[in-house]
Amino acid sequence: MPDLILRGRVLSFREEPAGYDDTASFRYIEDGGIRIRDGRIAECADFSTLETDGAEIVDHRPHLIVPGFIDAHAHYPQMQVIASWGAKLLDWLEKYTFPEETKFSDPDHCRRIAGYFLDTLTAHGTTTAAVYCTVHPQSAEAFFAAAEERNMAMIAGKVMMDRHAPEALCDAPQSSYDDTTALIGKWHGKGRAHYAITPRFAITSTPEQMEMAEALVRENPGCYLQTHLSENKAEIELTRELYPQARDYFDVYEKYGLLGERSLFGHAIHLTHRERDRMAETGSVAVYCPTSNLFLGSGLYDEAGLKEAGVRRAIATDVGGGTNYSMLRTLDEGYKALQLRGQNIDPLRSFYWASLGNARALKLEDRIGTLEPGTDADITVLDSRATDVMALRMETVKSLQEELFVLQTLGDDRAVAETYIAGHPAK
Ligand code: GUN
Ligand code: ZN
Repeated sequence: MPDLILRGRVLSFREEPAGYDDTASFRYIEDGGIRIRDGRIAECADFSTLETDGAEIVDHRPHLIVPGFIDAHAHYPQMQVIASWGAKLLDWLEKYTFPEETKFSDPDHCRRIAGYFLDTLTAHGTTTAAVYCTVHPQSAEAFFAAAEERNMAMIAGKVMMDRHAPEALCDAPQSSYDDTTALIGKWHGKGRAHYAITPRFAITSTPEQMEMAEALVRENPGCYLQTHLSENKAEIELTRELYPQARDYFDVYEKYGLLGERSLFGHAIHLTHRERDRMAETGSVAVYCPTSNLFLGSGLYDEAGLKEAGVRRAIATDVGGGTNYSMLRTLDEGYKALQLRGQNIDPLRSFYWASLGNARALKLEDRIGTLEPGTDADITVLDSRATDVMALRMETVKSLQEELFVLQTLGDDRAVAETYIAGHPAK
């Protein structure tokens, strides 16, 4: 196959931006070229310096070429739950989410929704996600198979839950251990797949199941752990009743050895100082889910406080508690929700977060999240003038930071001109 060269304006981060004007944190090439060979980035440089003989060239000028977006927390079985009215977390789970998730006992349904989900992410410029399946092993099986077909780098796991849910959605401690072990054996490290051990949250796991999660984490140090933490006040109260010996919510997970640098804690909104400090000490990741936090009325995540405490942080859609598949929409809502706390994150930091920041949180920065030679060619092409409204606003834009903020505030899947998965156009 000939090399593929993408031409356009190229943006990739080197470091977390220190502020609005931190131009040292990124590399921007006004007329750049990215050479792709065998699914990887072979070169990223000024277009004029590239040897173009024999290569296929796709001219994306004047669009902006960035690393594919990364979504650090989403639920693929909730595609038909998204946009469900009038409930907060625990009622929303009971009324909308659990009934929908029971449908994933059917492998055909799993396959259909998994395919839709991955194609929807691609259409929105997202190339990697950390994904919850349902309790059914076949839901994870279908998801990994669909990701493999598309050659997408995905982190996913079968949910473990053995109480406080309909009978049809409950496994048992031993079966959850056995099913998870089998899925890890089959999928973890196969192609671009990574497994996440996925106890849904403390409420839906008995202490016996938490012990199984502990064993799984101990026995599979290369896997991730994903769960939910301190999302909603009623959830926290019930967790305290169910685990009265724990000092706080995070301590439940600590008692079962679930903390660490590969552990992803969705929401992490209502944390005590002790919990924050413990998250920081253990390198655990707090995952900000702004559209979901607003939609379910869960609360206001404290970015500045977590940063100050030294907690590693990621950002995510949390579809279908979250309301949009787009990381642009997510950054926008994330910005607004932080404004309500008197915090604002600058556009460089936002775009860093959705790329290299999330890649680092997932410990995948050697493969994705930048446009560095040697990494996988997961790439998103953004059109800052995708709509009339954006084009008109762009007439007054004078800097890259302003352009990024327009993309984040006004953009969605229409602003994604193309998405490359391992070097192949996939949108
Ligand atoms: N906590 C436990 N399960 C879920 C879920 O599916 N979505 C959200 N937002 N929170 C949860
Ligand atoms: Zn979630």
